[in-house]
Amino acid sequence: MDAKTSNAHYMTADRIDVLEDLLNERYSVRAFLPQDVPRETIEHILRVSQRTASWCNSQPWQVLIASGEAKETFRKAIYAEAASGAKDDHDFTPPREYLGVYLERRRESGFQLYNTLGIARGDKMAYAKQALENYNFFGAPHVAVIHTDEPLGIYGAVDCGAYVSNFMLAAQALGLGTIPQAALARHSGLIRRHFNLADDRRVVCGISFGYADHAHKVNSYRTSRASVADTVTFVEE
Ligand SMILES: Cc1cc2nc3c(=O)[nH]c(=O)nc-3n(C[C@H](O)[C@H](O)[C@H](O)COP(=O)(O)O)c2cc1C
Repeated sequence: MDAKTSNAHYMTADRIDVLEDLLNERYSVRAFLPQDVPRETIEHILRVSQRTASWCNSQPWQVLIASGEAKETFRKAIYAEAASGAKDDHDFTPPREYLGVYLERRRESGFQLYNTLGIARGDKMAYAKQALENYNFFGAPHVAVIHTDEPLGIYGAVDCGAYVSNFMLAAQALGLGTIPQAALARHSGLIRRHFNLADDRRVVCGISFGYADHAHKVNSYRTSRASVADTVTFVEE
């Protein structure tokens, strides 16, 4: 089925329903089952995601996927650096500060996570331990690193963000769980060295993926979203 004929298989209402269902069902998975995802399924996600739009069709995303032994070696290396308290080594400057509504939303989602795990408010040791789980890839059998081209700057990163979204939706449609991880980009230098990436590649984020462990309590809560009214301003005159 090619892109031109595939549309004929769905009524317009069904198409938006499918997209809405995928968006509503997707959530950040923080506990995975150990079994590998078949290569054909991963390649299906990658083919679909490749249709992502980008500035001047530059398609700056390059995707490195570590599985099996390679994932394990990478996990040990990045976990060791993160656990050592090494200083941030981002390629892209992280948010300077969360203020106002952004701080509220950050806190709300953080407390949802900690409450679900039974971590008491203010228990900084437990927060740090949970944060380190990022570097175990939450038990996922596969981790993708998304990197862009340095001269494209922030626009390359924006295009990679769109790619990440499409990757997550494609994975959702194929029954997989994902979590986008800016945490991995804190160790961009290590990633570049570990995978021999060229000097002009810039790490945007990671995506750990696999089959979600639905029985794990960390996967039991869902985050909220602001209303359209709080988000959009229509200007007509
Ligand atoms: C670009 C990006 C980076 C993220 N990085 C992390 C991360 O490093 N660790 C983590 O636990 N969650 C991370 N998240 C997940 C967000 O916390 C999550 O998307 C948000 O709270 C909304 O929840 P939901 O994905 O379950 O709908 C990231 C999300 C995005 C889009």
